[in-house]
Amino acid sequence: MCGIVGYIGYKPAKPILLNGLLKLEYRGYDSAGISTLENDGISNIKSKGRVNSLNDIKEIDSLNGHVGIAHTRWATHGKPANCNSHPHMDNSKTFSVVHNGIIENYHELRNFLTKQGYNFLSETDSEVVPNLIHYYYKQLTCENDKKFLQAVKKACDDLVGSYALEIISSLHPDRIIVTRKDSPLVIGCGEKENYISSDIPAILSYTKNFYLLNDNEYVEIFDDSAKFYDRNLVPIEKDLKNIEWDASAAEKDGYEDYMLKEIHEQPKSIRETIGSRLTDSHTPVVFDDLSFSKEYLSNLQKIYIVACGTAMHAGLVGKALLENLCNIPTEVDIASEFRYRNPIINDKTLAIFITQSGETADTIAALKLARARGAKTLAISNVVGSSITREADHCIYTHAGPEIAVASTKAYTSQITLVSLLSIYFAETLESSNKGLIQELKKDILSLPDKVKTILDSSEDIKSFAEKVFQEKDMFFLGRGLDYSVSLEGSLKLKEISYVHSEAYASGELKHGPIALIENDVTVISIITNPLLVEKSISNIQEVITRGAKTMIITNQDIQGDNYDFCLRIPSINPLISPILSVIPLQLFAYYVSKAKGLDVDKPRNLAKSVTVE
Ligand code: AGP
Repeated sequence: MCGIVGYIGYKPAKPILLNGLLKLEYRGYDSAGISTLENDGISNIKSKGRVNSLNDIKEIDSLNGHVGIAHTRWATHGKPANCNSHPHMDNSKTFSVVHNGIIENYHELRNFLTKQGYNFLSETDSEVVPNLIHYYYKQLTCENDKKFLQAVKKACDDLVGSYALEIISSLHPDRIIVTRKDSPLVIGCGEKENYISSDIPAILSYTKNFYLLNDNEYVEIFDDSAKFYDRNLVPIEKDLKNIEWDASAAEKDGYEDYMLKEIHEQPKSIRETIGSRLTDSHTPVVFDDLSFSKEYLSNLQKIYIVACGTAMHAGLVGKALLENLCNIPTEVDIASEFRYRNPIINDKTLAIFITQSGETADTIAALKLARARGAKTLAISNVVGSSITREADHCIYTHAGPEIAVASTKAYTSQITLVSLLSIYFAETLESSNKGLIQELKKDILSLPDKVKTILDSSEDIKSFAEKVFQEKDMFFLGRGLDYSVSLEGSLKLKEISYVHSEAYASGELKHGPIALIENDVTVISIITNPLLVEKSISNIQEVITRGAKTMIITNQDIQGDNYDFCLRIPSINPLISPILSVIPLQLFAYYVSKAKGLDVDKPRNLAKSVTVE
């Protein structure tokens, strides 16, 4: 999705803005642009294509200003084109604006402004914003110093939808104004300089001190200070937050791609997720940041786990854990469905929201709905201070470190690790009699980092199989129970980065239709980790082999037969958390298929890292 960077200080803004945009490339985008304040007004340079294509525009060499805003655009309204790229300016070229989000009432505002004599040069929803600011600015009679902020506020009062906005004006060259509603924005603080970004990693190499903005707050940012205001422009105070992430953690560290680096980081990221929450199998799991009572948990009628994409797949494992350990009925919902399906919620409902970024629009909207209907809400996120963490009643972090590749890998394994710890914490609070299972799970959770390492050692074998089948058009992932949930994740990974059509099926469903698709040159990947379901799963595999499919099996069970193309043995673990291990070969497989096809693994077409619009 779109990315925002801004700078105000004593250094030339251009290199900082371009560097920040490059760091935001992973979010997915189709055009880029920057505006800086120069001696003769605002310079605005933008282009369809990559950030580096801005350097081909001659005028960029003359930008020396110390105040600027920049943007990478992921097209929603209007195709990728120079005219639709941001920043957008008003007709008089007094204001320049970058916008993330969607202005839902832009038709109405455009009609209104057209009647007032304004022209529009783009097809975007965003271009109404600078013109609306200009429209109000001309009418204001207040003190000059207050006019810019007043005009921005008046314009925002007219906007319906979501936005993070950064605005500069040639009439107020000492400041940048920013505001947000349902779209992320942070302010990084330096010595006599300030940075702005939609995403912490873009400016992490400049500062670790951040102000986190809430919805409908406004900020006037100067080189040496920032003034904060609430929705009515009443001044407010904000605390600086220190973000522990190391800037180098957001670099590739010698790996060819972020995704490969993040796959290999999993022993470490899982260890970080466990942290001090679990120290040994005989000691209870501790969550310093939670205080659920036995009474509250035993009165719960339902738990919802709500998320999107990979995070939702992690939620499927959470359901199995919570139901098995705590005996609480648990439903998993796709956030974009949950928010519109009128779910049954009351004060005996706990709603858990899983989101790596903490910025996914549907997940945040689903949380607001659950909270409004009386549920307690618990957010699981990887990004400290992200939007969802400020909306939820409770929040716990995966601590997996920055995940840059669009395809989520280490976040998934950390999410399941954290949900398994949470389920044990609930079960122990409930004084569950399942002590044997709980102790076994704790031992297995502590063994995860080493077991993940063992699987990573098989990378070359997985690569060889991927290179054999990478040209095939269709692939299927099969599994039963939680092996089915991990099949869904394997299939999503493959689609996302290799563009190979793939489907995941519960193995038992095969005969109910999908087997009609099996023929020569189809690859079937089967995950078999549940000892109770081995025989049945093997029968399903034999059925597809008979029909000509190439097969890969990922298993920790004793599998008979030798007619599989590739069988990868992975370490044994309790079936309730086996997806943490069985997903690793699937991540590597998707990665190597994508590489064999010569694709951009980290920035797959049409996709964005965090989906901040509906
Ligand atoms: C994962 O590979 C995807 N890129 C995507 O499904 C992602 O998991 C989903 O958009 C949810 O993101 P979130 O965890 O940041 O909310």
